[in-house]
Amino acid sequence: MKVPFIDLQRAHAPLKEELLEAMSRTIDHGGYCLGPDVEAFEKAFADAQGVAGCVGVGSGTEALHLIALALGIGPGDEVIVPAFTFIASAWFAQYVGARIVFADIDPQTFTLDPNCIESLITEKTKAIVVTHLFGQAADMDPILSVAQSRGVKVVEDAAQAHLAQYKGRAVGDMGEAGAFSFYPTKNLGGLGEGGVIASRSTELLEHAKVLRAHGSKERYLNHFVGYNNRMEGLQAASLNVKLPYLRGKTARRQKIARCYLGGIRQTDIQLPMPARYGESVYHMFTIRHPERDRLRAYLTEQGIGSDIVYPYPLHLQPCFEYLGYGLGDFPVSEELARNCLSLPIVPELTDEEVDYVIKALNAFA
Ligand SMILES: Cc1ncc(COP(=O)(O)O)c(C=O)c1O
Repeated sequence: MKVPFIDLQRAHAPLKEELLEAMSRTIDHGGYCLGPDVEAFEKAFADAQGVAGCVGVGSGTEALHLIALALGIGPGDEVIVPAFTFIASAWFAQYVGARIVFADIDPQTFTLDPNCIESLITEKTKAIVVTHLFGQAADMDPILSVAQSRGVKVVEDAAQAHLAQYKGRAVGDMGEAGAFSFYPTKNLGGLGEGGVIASRSTELLEHAKVLRAHGSKERYLNHFVGYNNRMEGLQAASLNVKLPYLRGKTARRQKIARCYLGGIRQTDIQLPMPARYGESVYHMFTIRHPERDRLRAYLTEQGIGSDIVYPYPLHLQPCFEYLGYGLGDFPVSEELARNCLSLPIVPELTDEEVDYVIKALNAFA
């Protein structure tokens, strides 16, 4: 049996007609860059996610960049970023010329360790980027409370956490702003790039709208240095088709995760530990194993796709050498990068495929 790690064609095949019809309507009405599909999606996604408002942009990375600009972060400022996350969480600070200050992650949730933050805050610290990694909300209460007491803003990188909650609160709605990605492999993915900025601040959202369109409030009059970061109509059209299925697809991811958690008994495998404060939406199901590469080769032989997400912690990335970090600085992040392996968890997997993965893992010697 072959079990794909991700299979976008399988995900889209049942929706093809609906997607083509939606795109055909966009071609006819002509709203290709922003326009009615984007407006409808901004509203629908905000409602589904439970955030106050959204602004559509070209990607999750652009969302992070525009949030940093809208918060006025720049040279001379410091931003705390988890050492284990996707690189774009760090681009938040890098793109605006702020200094990145890495912090280690919690070994249970793989998200920013609240205990590591306070000692890193200086008078230059302007923001903390919290990534809700692999679909698991970070432990927000202690982070928000330290940030508030020290006058630091919290920004949520929710690129991997559509519909995730923390103690019943929506991710993306707890900090100053949240960034979501609709890259095709995300829990909600378009047929290309896409992202939104979420915030309770209408002022921030209005400013982001100006920044995403060349810094212009009035045609050909540019008040700010802006960017071309508009969400495309065709992407919004496809996301509007896919959004109503997101809740069901998330429940299916959670069901597969429960099968893995209950079924995998191979003693050297460390399973992800569900957090007390909110169920993961399982963008990834990431296990740890001391012989990760041998396990991965074995799974490949069995026809099972897997991925190493991520093989390098950010403080050891060549592009951040200039920051002066070294091996041993963030032990939890380093251990995870060494031992992590993500198993197939896409909602389109059949029960038979899930069973096959469990049996293969349990037979690993
Ligand atoms: C945690 C995280 N942050 C940010 C991004 C950036 O999103 P995008 O690929 O849409 O630019 C991604 C996705 O790739 C991500 O996984």
